[in-house]
Amino acid sequence: MTQVIKGDITTLKVDAIVNAANQVMLGGGGVDGAIHRAAGRELFEACLKVPEVRPGVRCPTGEARITPGFKLPAKYVIHTVGPVYRDGTKGEAEKLANCYRNSLALACENGCHTVAFPCISTGVYGYPIEEASEIAVKETKAFLDAHPEMEVIFCCFSEKDKAVYEKILNGKE
Ligand code: APR
Repeated sequence: MTQVIKGDITTLKVDAIVNAANQVMLGGGGVDGAIHRAAGRELFEACLKVPEVRPGVRCPTGEARITPGFKLPAKYVIHTVGPVYRDGTKGEAEKLANCYRNSLALACENGCHTVAFPCISTGVYGYPIEEASEIAVKETKAFLDAHPEMEVIFCCFSEKDKAVYEKILNGKE
């Protein structure tokens, strides 16, 4: 089951919230900054313990890592790194699709039933919301078809983004 809400993902009492992180995985601005502020210092320390796969990279673009949620109402934070949008011809769509696939797989492996996503890559990373939400809905629907026991919440930070998601979801279900 999927639903779209407008809200602050750090307030959601779900099994896992997904963070739109960067490859260093030590915090940043946007939703990353909000999640780190709300979770507290322990989240930074937990991220620091995530092994680097190469210097300065704990989570390569398209992959996902899980940590506890600490002071957040959510049990876990799943950190994923979306692509920086260039012009749509540099494999951005596939990398963004991998963010949703890998985050949902990791949530499932960790026994999560309710997972909330922000609009990954559509802020600092510049992904157009229309294309990004199409990918988000398509990949989530494919995963939920195979895992009907899970629930996904698309947590938009603006009414505009929420309306884009609703248009796609209404067309699909
Ligand atoms: N709750 C839900 N959504 C939020 C919140 C929040 N508290 N704060 C911001 N957002 C939304 C933004 O409005 C945008 O729609 O999250 C979406 C993703 O935007 P960004 O946070 O800028 O993430 P992204 O575009 O993936 O860029 C990631 O930004 O903050 C840095 O460290 C991060 O380098 C990484 C880059």
